[in-house]
Amino acid sequence: MTANDRGVPPEDLRAALESFPFPHAEGLHTPELGQLEKDYLTQCIDSGYVSSIGAYVERFESELATFSGAQCAIATSSGTTALHLALLAAGVKPGDIVLLPALTFVATANAIAHCGATPVALDVEEVSMGLDPEVLAEFFQSETTVGTQGTRLHRASDTPIAAVIAVHVLGHPCDIVATSEVCAKFGVSLVEDAAESLGSYVAGTHTGLFGSVGVFSFNGNKTITTGGGGCVVTQDKSIADRVRHLGTTARIPDPFEFDHDVVGYNYRMPNLNAALGCAQLERLPELLEGQRKLHDLYAYHFSHVESATLLDEPEGRESNFWLQALKLRSGGLAAREAVLTYGEGRGIPLRPLWKPIPAVKAHQHGLHREIPVALALHESVVCLPSSPSLLRQSSLTLAEGHSSQ
Ligand SMILES: Cc1ncc(COP(=O)(O)O)c(C=O)c1O
Repeated sequence: MTANDRGVPPEDLRAALESFPFPHAEGLHTPELGQLEKDYLTQCIDSGYVSSIGAYVERFESELATFSGAQCAIATSSGTTALHLALLAAGVKPGDIVLLPALTFVATANAIAHCGATPVALDVEEVSMGLDPEVLAEFFQSETTVGTQGTRLHRASDTPIAAVIAVHVLGHPCDIVATSEVCAKFGVSLVEDAAESLGSYVAGTHTGLFGSVGVFSFNGNKTITTGGGGCVVTQDKSIADRVRHLGTTARIPDPFEFDHDVVGYNYRMPNLNAALGCAQLERLPELLEGQRKLHDLYAYHFSHVESATLLDEPEGRESNFWLQALKLRSGGLAAREAVLTYGEGRGIPLRPLWKPIPAVKAHQHGLHREIPVALALHESVVCLPSSPSLLRQSSLTLAEGHSSQ
């Protein structure tokens, strides 16, 4: 009987987890909030502009555009609503198919369903856990054709394929250059779910700017937070105008009259949340530096562990290292459960990756493709506590640990 059969992690991993000074009962990624956030919130309340009109919203959008290099940034109430607007602006209609990687948070698939379209999941590449461009190309090649209107059709269901969503999982950029080339070759829009990858780059370009439109999330567990919030980024002014219009109840501009040309959405970010976001943006360089340092500390600490490897940024792609994670070398689901259970028993918040989309009850149907790599990753990856505060609280002990090893 192996250690895993008994529900115990491999000895080397258990020892490494035990000797890392995890603060008790920390969340997986808790926000850094302080006086600056309080000051901006107070100023926002004092201004009386707490809803979706206000100086902080404009400032947040403009600073995000500058940071990412986007021509246009439109702040929204969440990453999910940003994705919904991005897909609508990319032309997704009810009945269409949208392709997405099998390994992502359910919000990616939900946003497709909110458009009345069908999410069809494809397999991912091992190195980044993001969409595999070879699988995508093979899907287009063997399962699609060009319809009479020039649209790309899924041959078996005679359904238009309106878009591809690429996701940068845990902040690690997927092979977005190859993915965008495949999308261009087959004439399908690329939408980037960069919810987790603020501060991640490929060849000097920020993630989210490779497709026609991209989104970030500022949920409480992300690199920076607005409480709840998101943003659409694009280099295309006409897409930005459409996103802004749809997200602001599709109101036709008029000094007095309330008229709306389509059924729109109230998806804009309130000024209060943007005030928090402006303070957080000022901390962003320091937070990104901290996330990379934490990665280096974990890399050092787990370097002697043979039963697991720390996930790293793929070569040539710069990660923001939003969430640190270990990949177990063997043992399948039982080994992962043993590690998660061990963490739970010691107050270390270890978490699995999401269930692959084809296995999620709300999105089960027959159009998803085979996803062996995504299934293997789901069984073997365990996310580690990744809060910026961890670095502060652990540094002294770790520094001592370095010298004693
Ligand atoms: C990959 C991914 N897509 C979309 C979302 C949705 O963002 P939000 O929670 O802000 O709606 C999240 C995170 O929460 C995410 O991790």
